Amino acid sequence: MDYISLGKTGERLSEIGLGTWKLGVDEKKEIEALEYGLDSGINFIDTAEMYGTEPLVAKAIRKSKDTFIATKVSPTHFRHDEVIRACEGSLQRLGIKTIDLYQLHWPNKNVPIHETMGAMERLVDDGRIRHIGVSNFSIRELEEAQAALKKYEIVSDQIEYSMLVRDIGDELLPFCKKEGISVIAYSPLSRAHIFEPKYAELTKFLAGIGERHGKDVAQVAINWLICKGNVIPIPKASSKKHVADLVGSAGWRLSKNEVSSINDFLSDYSRRSLASVAKPAINSHPFVTRALTWLSSAGNKK
Ligand SMILES: NC(=O)c1ccc[n+]([C@@H]2O[C@H](COP(=O)([O-])OP(=O)(O)OC[C@H]3O[C@@H](n4cnc5c(N)ncnc54)[C@H](OP(=O)(O)O)[C@@H]3O)[C@@H](O)[C@H]2O)c1
Repeated sequence: MDYISLGKTGERLSEIGLGTWKLGVDEKKEIEALEYGLDSGINFIDTAEMYGTEPLVAKAIRKSKDTFIATKVSPTHFRHDEVIRACEGSLQRLGIKTIDLYQLHWPNKNVPIHETMGAMERLVDDGRIRHIGVSNFSIRELEEAQAALKKYEIVSDQIEYSMLVRDIGDELLPFCKKEGISVIAYSPLSRAHIFEPKYAELTKFLAGIGERHGKDVAQVAINWLICKGNVIPIPKASSKKHVADLVGSAGWRLSKNEVSSINDFLSDYSRRSLASVAKPAINSHPFVTRALTWLSSAGNKK
């Protein structure tokens, strides 16, 4: 396992963390899976008060006290005193004295950001959290959130990023790189949609690249994110088998040529997928139908 800095903090996090949303189906098996990941060099687990998985994480980290724990406060708790209370609840459920990374789960326009950030700074001052992060924040929201902080810097933005969802690639990702803010990539396997038969052309292409490295599609998809340099993917897995596979997505690199051929493939693939959805829709639009009828009758007149 290789390690990467979190923002400008100097904290060394494993190149991948483990997500925990929707765990809690088979607790024993899932705790074993998380423990297996921690024993294999992963040192970062992500949870949220909203997921209901903080008690499960508490059990999984019993033997790995140095695990870097990230959790999130829900937007419904963004008033000053609610943030403090939510944090105390998370600390209790996680069975720890300090949360390593406390993140605002989503922006909430109904609560002034300076009020929420005031509470976050108080939590750092009191030693209840170590770093402040956000999640699902745009560039503008990040700037406003940073401006609302008097003493500390935002260290990360947790946001959806995968081969199938690449919206942040053009603007948010370069912005975060420039500002020294880590991007924590959630749903890096697109919630397993990437393995569906409709993406067979893509997965076949990725399997071909993976073969050269002895890696499978999931490992290539995650490594492509790691190769961005400022991105820490946090896939979720419920079994030791999947976690072992995910561990194999770190500690190596796709070549520059492979990354650019994947990028080219993804751009072309998106264009073609969009065209195949848009074409029938455009063709069936009344204006287009009328225009086509007019054109064919005009053609017939010639
Ligand atoms: N901040 C936010 O708003 C937000 C939103 C969504 C998610 N998140 C965080 O991001 C984490 C990950 O995202 P996610 O859970 O949405 O989706 P994900 O990690 O993209 O995908 C999880 C799915 O991939 C499967 N999987 C895992 N490893 C695999 C492997 N090696 N081969 C094949 N399939 C594999 C899992 O199956 P099994 O479960 O069967 O192993 C599960 O069905 C969450 O758990 C959560 O911590 C944050």
